[in-house]
Amino acid sequence: MSKFKTPIVILNFKTYLESSGNNALKLAKALEIASDESGINMVATPQAADIYRIKDETRIPILAQHIDNVNPGGHTGSNLLECLKEAGIDGSLINHSEKRMTLADIDSTITKLRNNDLFSVVCTNNVNTSEAIANFDPNFIAVEPPELIGTGISVSQAEPEVVEGTVRKVKSINKNIKVLCGAGISTGDDMKAALDLGAEGVLLASGIILSESPEKVLLELVSKM
Ligand code: G3P
Repeated sequence: MSKFKTPIVILNFKTYLESSGNNALKLAKALEIASDESGINMVATPQAADIYRIKDETRIPILAQHIDNVNPGGHTGSNLLECLKEAGIDGSLINHSEKRMTLADIDSTITKLRNNDLFSVVCTNNVNTSEAIANFDPNFIAVEPPELIGTGISVSQAEPEVVEGTVRKVKSINKNIKVLCGAGISTGDDMKAALDLGAEGVLLASGIILSESPEKVLLELVSKM
């Protein structure tokens, strides 16, 4: 669990050019430096094609952005868990709002990750879906109101009731599940507000990826904890 000890910062690289290919490696190195300097666990979530190189050249924990619920065999174009594991992932995001999955696929993917000693971070869009997903026993639930994603308006400041409500409901079902929040988070105040609401970390993207100096912004992000 130590790679995913909370408080934690998970950076979703998405498909920005600033976080793809060579830039993905640079960003992963910036995460590694910020994590070493601050002592806060930071996790890279690159595109599948960048996983192996980041694993090879850094010590940063790695999540996949998505896993397809398929078994080895004929599934052209799919992200196979077994292949991503060999490439170096420590776990995966599941059901990001930009890559929604069915309930059945979410359940089955959480189970497959668990059986492979990998971490599951399931994204949800509100308190009710967080409550439903808690019954599947993932390691993390990350609540992200879709309308705030990429806006720079922080969920922890603009919709604190979503974070607080998710923490309350999820913990009432299974207190071992860690709750994160995401959408619009980029500053130390956003992160502090998230932790004050009971979240155990954040999932974020554009505020870091599109900044002039990701390393500097990451250090500011964790400076008020
Ligand atoms: O997965 C993180 C995410 O969806 C939040 O994106 O750009 O609002 O930090 P952003």
